[in-house]
Amino acid sequence: MPDLGVKIKNVTLKNPIIIASGTPTYGPTNVKKCIKSDAAAFVTKTLCYTEWLQKQPRPRWHVEHPEAIEEGGYFSLYSTERLNPTPPEEYARKKMKEYVKEAHDFDVKVIASIAGTDPQTWAKLTDLVTENGADMIELNLQCPHVEKNQPTGMIAGRDPELCYSILDSVKKRTPLPVIGKVLGEGVDPIKVAGRMIDGGADAVLLTGRYQGLYLNIETEKPIHWGGMGGYGGFWQASITRKWLVRASEANLGVPIIGGAGIGGYEDIVSYLLCGASSVEVCTAIIVFGHKIVKRWLRQISAWMDSKGYSSIADFSGRAVKNILPPSQIPGDTPYASRIAPESCQKCLRCMEACPYDAITVVDKKLVVNLERCDGCRLCAALCGQGAVEFFKR
Ligand SMILES: Cc1cc2nc3c(=O)[nH]c(=O)nc-3n(C[C@H](O)[C@H](O)[C@H](O)COP(=O)(O)O)c2cc1C
Repeated sequence: MPDLGVKIKNVTLKNPIIIASGTPTYGPTNVKKCIKSDAAAFVTKTLCYTEWLQKQPRPRWHVEHPEAIEEGGYFSLYSTERLNPTPPEEYARKKMKEYVKEAHDFDVKVIASIAGTDPQTWAKLTDLVTENGADMIELNLQCPHVEKNQPTGMIAGRDPELCYSILDSVKKRTPLPVIGKVLGEGVDPIKVAGRMIDGGADAVLLTGRYQGLYLNIETEKPIHWGGMGGYGGFWQASITRKWLVRASEANLGVPIIGGAGIGGYEDIVSYLLCGASSVEVCTAIIVFGHKIVKRWLRQISAWMDSKGYSSIADFSGRAVKNILPPSQIPGDTPYASRIAPESCQKCLRCMEACPYDAITVVDKKLVVNLERCDGCRLCAALCGQGAVEFFKR
């Protein structure tokens, strides 16, 4: 069995999978599932003192393309779930204390997520979770459900200097490792991560989900509740990989946690290859259940075995050197396509899309004219039947 353990400062995680703050860590039923899931840690639903953020809109969920909810299926999950409904004192002193005790029996670490709105509330929340047994603290500087004039969540997360000062003040009050959760929109996440690290962050999480809007064109109003929601899905993985590579190139000097977009174990492996040393996952747990973690751990171990890797450090960041700058991507390699008639369903999508008019119907079969074919691979990329073969000329 390969060693899946990773470290964030002085805290050892038994594997790289952390269940992110959100619905999967909401309430005691889900927390129990987190503890028994084999994940190394879970992040509590974010604690805050803002009363309206403790109340939940109903309804608060919308899923675009629910039919695509299968591993790798590109649906979007849209929600206005706000923050922890339990007042911080009650949560930290009663619930979290219990969760920590139970979690430690299973070697699961508890990361307390907090969101202050001013220096006093950041300080109070930091002290509360430190005194009540959290293993680490995560600063929610990406929550999309905040008022424009409210310096927390994504409003604070857009301001690198405010992120620096929040990190600096929290770090001065606690001996616990602190994770900065970095916003992925409207700001350069690498710049924000850098300032969080200047302020003392022991790890940074790249990145959270986006803020989005669904509009009903009949009523001309947003669906359900009349506002904007958190918006994301597995399609975010490609963007997260980009930020992980950029973070590796910037040599930030602290562990990087891969965030949004994980839909399968391949995403986890790819985040690690792009420089993450652990990952946080939320949406996939919502749609597949906590049980998916055990399967992913088996799949990651099998992949590591097949590659001969014995620890996460053996391959974390290994793909970064393989990513070419745009000017070094070759522009003159000759390729071409051919269509296998036995697999072709004659949907004609490739023919209609081909910018070179290289695909025609000959004797009721689709045929590629090699003189016209540019070798761009659009036809093969669009073919749902895998009927287009692609070869080097
Ligand atoms: C319904 C829902 C509720 C969430 N609530 C929180 C929260 O309370 N605090 C927080 O820091 N992030 C919260 N998040 C963000 C997740 O922790 C995570 O960063 C984000 O969903 C991206 O990861 P994913 O693509 O695996 O879902 C929430 C996400 C969802 C979908």
